[in-house]
Amino acid sequence: MKAHIALLPGDGIGPEVTAEAVRCLKAVGARYGHEWRLDEAPVGAIAMDATGMPLPPATLALAKTADAILFGAIGAPRYSDPALKVRPEQGILQLRQELGLFANLRPVVCFEAVLDASPLKPELLRGVDIMVIRELTGGIYFGAKTRTATEASDLCVYTVTEVERIVRLGARLARQRRNRLTSVDKANVLETSRLWRSVVLRVMKDEFPDVVLEHMYVDAAAMHLLRRPSDFDVVITENMFGDILTDEASMLPGSLGLCASASLGSGTRGLYEPIHGSAPDIAGRGIANPYAAILSAALLLRHSLALETEARALEAAVVAALDAGVRTADLKPAGRPASTHEAGAAVLARLR
Ligand code: IPM
Ligand code: MG
Repeated sequence: MKAHIALLPGDGIGPEVTAEAVRCLKAVGARYGHEWRLDEAPVGAIAMDATGMPLPPATLALAKTADAILFGAIGAPRYSDPALKVRPEQGILQLRQELGLFANLRPVVCFEAVLDASPLKPELLRGVDIMVIRELTGGIYFGAKTRTATEASDLCVYTVTEVERIVRLGARLARQRRNRLTSVDKANVLETSRLWRSVVLRVMKDEFPDVVLEHMYVDAAAMHLLRRPSDFDVVITENMFGDILTDEASMLPGSLGLCASASLGSGTRGLYEPIHGSAPDIAGRGIANPYAAILSAALLLRHSLALETEARALEAAVVAALDAGVRTADLKPAGRPASTHEAGAAVLARLR
């Protein structure tokens, strides 16, 4: 097939890890006879340096016409002053909103070969395979904001439609997996959560009575994710809870550097990014873990291009590289850590 892929490497370690994901995508294309058109554009702090805008119009236009977007990371210390009106992070938030990418799939999978990289006990981690679906274009991230010298506010709003589409996606995915859906909210305190829960109850009763449903408060979910992670199958939750819980959940596989994500809307166009940030402290040194970026490229093949065989081949190659002991510094290697490029090469060498 032919596909047009937008490359938005962004800031910090974004370009380094994206380069390895692109090498893998090219290899998949060559091996399976696909033709990719790859176009790169600036986003985030580097785009602000050049244009003053975190999401220049040309970058947005590219993202809107491509079949899929491979995204690196965003954010830089030189733009972290809280007094700033324009910030790099607005680049990714605008992209999600402009492209209608309302659902963020964040798989949390523990890889057998690196169980020891996690701060948690290996016996807790075996078999962990969670699909967190984070609502991505609503809630407190996108509500009205106010600020005076003495007061500030962020409004959290959810509509029935916004909740319904997340529930349906979560329930459909649960049916293809272990048929369990956990809905995370704070319905004991927040009105948006009470709306969320009532929509979940209705949609599940009317449309998915066969899927096992449970509700969990977000504080309890934060605890149970560490106490009994293998009990979770599909988790649905609102924007900010999902942001926080998935960083927490990344400690199950052992590193943010193993956690990929797919941001999807109602069509097939999606944005694929590792959930880690720009990690300015290690940027430019060639030591960042590229596996999450490569696994994000696999999600791109699966969800935007419907290339399941190719997606699985790439995921299997990452697992094989981990099995062979190729570990970047974040994965606590016994000997010399693999560089970003070496880890990418290890995946390439194992691609069937
Ligand atoms: C994420 C990030 C972003 C978010 C930031 C960079 C705006 O933390 O994708 O999880 O909060 O959504
Ligand atoms: Mg986050």
